Amino acid sequence: MEHRRGVHLDAPPTNQLTPQMETNWEEKYQRNETPWNKGNPCPGLVEFLQNNPVTGRVLVPGCGFGHDVRALALTADQVLGIDLAPSAIHAAKSFPPEGGEDYSCLDLFALPLDFCGSFAWVWEHTCFCAINPQRRPDYVRAVASALQPNGYLLAIFYLNPDNDQPEGEPPFGTSPDELHQLFGSHFQLIRSWTPIANYPGREGRELMQLLQRKPELPSIS
Ligand SMILES: C[S@@+](CC[C@H](N)C(=O)[O-])C[C@H]1O[C@@H](n2cnc3c(N)ncnc32)[C@H](O)[C@@H]1O
Repeated sequence: MEHRRGVHLDAPPTNQLTPQMETNWEEKYQRNETPWNKGNPCPGLVEFLQNNPVTGRVLVPGCGFGHDVRALALTADQVLGIDLAPSAIHAAKSFPPEGGEDYSCLDLFALPLDFCGSFAWVWEHTCFCAINPQRRPDYVRAVASALQPNGYLLAIFYLNPDNDQPEGEPPFGTSPDELHQLFGSHFQLIRSWTPIANYPGREGRELMQLLQRKPELPSIS
């Protein structure tokens, strides 16, 4: 796994991707090849919410079946789960509602203009590790743009997925160093910790971070 030290977020959005690094997510859902679906919300998120109820409007990119969306809807005013794959959104909508949650088939990298600055929180869980690593600077920009100034990105990052997929397929790992390089210009790191609660097999391989969006974002030249 290449660690992207010295990534320049002011570079233009990446649009030249290695073809084998693009994933057909819809096809995976249609084939029921969804090993990431554990049938319940991320334990690290549940642990966090027990002591830190999240309020306001929340965005969950790459929400899949929406388990985390529904966990967040127990405390937040409004939660929007988005996913590229129509089948994921269809499945997410089939669960009984827990609160003010909704789902929409959207690409994180092509969000509607009115999303700009409109979320108090973003919850990241296995979307960052799913996208092509070349698009990580785009990920940071997209999430920072969706957040209000001083809004929060709560994230669980998969450090070392011990990927048994063919080369060039997700999940793609990361490191604290890379996260600092990527997020540092748009976010202030508030807290970084290893969650106690994990899905079986992910113990010690996840890093949770609470990041706060800077009031002013760097301009894209
Ligand atoms: C590994 S799955 C994780 C799903 C969910 N977060 C979970 O943990 O169950 C990654 C998800 O991200 C979605 N995804 C990938 N790229 C995306 C993008 N650019 N915009 C929105 N969703 C995306 C995929 O369709 C897939 O549902």
